[in-house]
Amino acid sequence: MAYKNVLKYSDVTPRADYLNRRQLMGGAAGLAAGMALGPALGASKYSTDLKPNPLEDIASYNNFYEFGSAKGDPANNAHMLTIDPWSVEIDGMVDRPGSYGLEDILTKVTQEERIYRFRCVETWSMVVPWVGFELNQLLDLAGVQGAAKYVAFQTLYRPEEMPGQRSVSLEWPYREGLRLDEAMHPLTIMATGIYDEPMPKQNGAPLRLVVPWKYGYKSIKSIVRVTLTDKEPQTTWNMLQPNEYGFYSNVNPEVSHPRWSQAYEKPIGGGLFAKRQETLMFNGYADEVASLYDGMDLVVNH
Ligand code: MTE
Repeated sequence: MAYKNVLKYSDVTPRADYLNRRQLMGGAAGLAAGMALGPALGASKYSTDLKPNPLEDIASYNNFYEFGSAKGDPANNAHMLTIDPWSVEIDGMVDRPGSYGLEDILTKVTQEERIYRFRCVETWSMVVPWVGFELNQLLDLAGVQGAAKYVAFQTLYRPEEMPGQRSVSLEWPYREGLRLDEAMHPLTIMATGIYDEPMPKQNGAPLRLVVPWKYGYKSIKSIVRVTLTDKEPQTTWNMLQPNEYGFYSNVNPEVSHPRWSQAYEKPIGGGLFAKRQETLMFNGYADEVASLYDGMDLVVNH
């Protein structure tokens, strides 16, 4: 798999430097250091200043039910997945439907680092330094038609490489969906890596969605199909438990899950005695995305 056109920190600066870079960015010297990274990796205005979790946390505590339902199963089993070659079928209401090879996609989009908060509906959270490109760039390649209102996503179905598809009772393939304006929002990315590494398989290699203001299950992994449609798509967790998992799934500390509160979260990696912290509306991205939901009842549309 070619990641050669991904400009990574390691290409431009030694590892010790980039690990400290975000602290440096505050002062004038920091500004110069940031410029030296070039436009693709200048600090994205969409990145948080929070310290990212180490890769060991991010790649060992996972939900990827295709590889089992325990948090360590994906890291143990995902090596079975073949990811090369990889293509994404883009169909439905687009001008240029077809099979888009990943290597080809990566020559036509601009990748950059986005350090995002990540909040799981189970109340744990992390900070992840993704590498990826805005989903709107992929949708523009395919040419979204005027009548399209939603985007549906599917993970691959390959039970011979994904033991969870033989044993876990979810509707396979895993599927998710966004409203078109959510999908076109610049915060919504297709991620291909973490830190300066290609995406670990357990995190959804080679291509996964990341929607940082929604609960983590919306961020579907290992995507093989993207469909533009005028109907609200079916989504895996909503099909299983519609009253627990709505279509929108925006992080909202005021709307409890039927079985637990969403007011607080526990950052992963802080050890047994890690302090819980308050969960923020839209996971801290309210300034960017609240207007998408103007006039909507966020309890009904949870
Ligand atoms: N995508 C697929 N295909 N299968 C899954 O089981 N789990 C979701 C989401 N995407 C899941 C998936 C859930 S519940 C969460 S919290 C995040 O992936 C976890 O992402 P991470 O393991 O990279 O932290």
